Amino acid sequence: MNSALATNSALNTVHLGDNLPFMQSLPDACCDLIYVDPPFCTGQRQTTARQTNGYSDNWSGSIEGYLKFLEPRLREMHRLLSETGSLLVHLDWRTVHYAKVMLDTLFSRDNFLNEIIWHYRTGGRCSHWFARKHDSILFYAKNKGKHTFNVLRGGKFRTDGLNIDEDGRPYKSTKKGRLYFHPDGPAITDVWDIPFLSTVSNERTGYPTQKPEALLDRIIQAASNPGDVVADFFCGSGTTLTVAARTDRRFIGCDIESAAVEIAKNRATSQANQRPTT
Ligand SMILES: C[S@@+](CC[C@H](N)C(=O)[O-])C[C@H]1O[C@@H](n2cnc3c(N)ncnc32)[C@H](O)[C@@H]1O
Repeated sequence: MNSALATNSALNTVHLGDNLPFMQSLPDACCDLIYVDPPFCTGQRQTTARQTNGYSDNWSGSIEGYLKFLEPRLREMHRLLSETGSLLVHLDWRTVHYAKVMLDTLFSRDNFLNEIIWHYRTGGRCSHWFARKHDSILFYAKNKGKHTFNVLRGGKFRTDGLNIDEDGRPYKSTKKGRLYFHPDGPAITDVWDIPFLSTVSNERTGYPTQKPEALLDRIIQAASNPGDVVADFFCGSGTTLTVAARTDRRFIGCDIESAAVEIAKNRATSQANQRPTT
């Protein structure tokens, strides 16, 4: 657990403003896990029907301008990570390959852990190429080997055609005897099938590009422990902060849009308030 921030006023708050000066104001190694979901360089203003303000995803100089924006921010995130910490950067086909090269330089290629594929089914069809139905989440450790990682399990093993024991449990016969399956299911891999938020989901806040809590729950459970400091410097509607609060982590949030900060504060604080006091 990180103690550098014990008295810092940023803990369990959501800062309104540009994340670069905000991160520069924070001490080294104060975050155990950073997840960010920056704008994707779509060239559009991101809005929804319910929330007309949204945020701009337009970059002068296009991808070069976007990467110039991203680089100093990813550099700060590296500085802010604790020795056991890790960074997850959520992007899509437009920029993920450029960001991978940038992050290999900032973190070193040895500290790259995974490219997580988040696969979903919603969105339009396409008749000119394969429909794009995944985002990529780049996962880097500050120091591979020292980093926090909890194996998560879910789903079912394929057991068709296997032997069944006296108690009805499937097993494989090996030279060493019977091999049973883990009761909690197979370990989760780097391809995640998690539904996008439906238009009528109770989780919906109306903020554009809001991510599902199930996605953040998996990230936070795998890459941090209770009591850790989880930060999201592009927090939008506060999905990361909300799940962090619910799972007994401390959080730091930041967004440049006041509508985002208002929604994020309400969501994260209501989670924190629902936790039983000890
Ligand atoms: C893709 S959205 C994040 C959505 C979020 N993951 C959620 O679940 O709601 C990206 C966010 O980055 C914010 N943003 C863009 N530039 C920023 C900057 N320089 N500093 C802080 N936030 C910024 C935008 O306002 C937007 O809310």
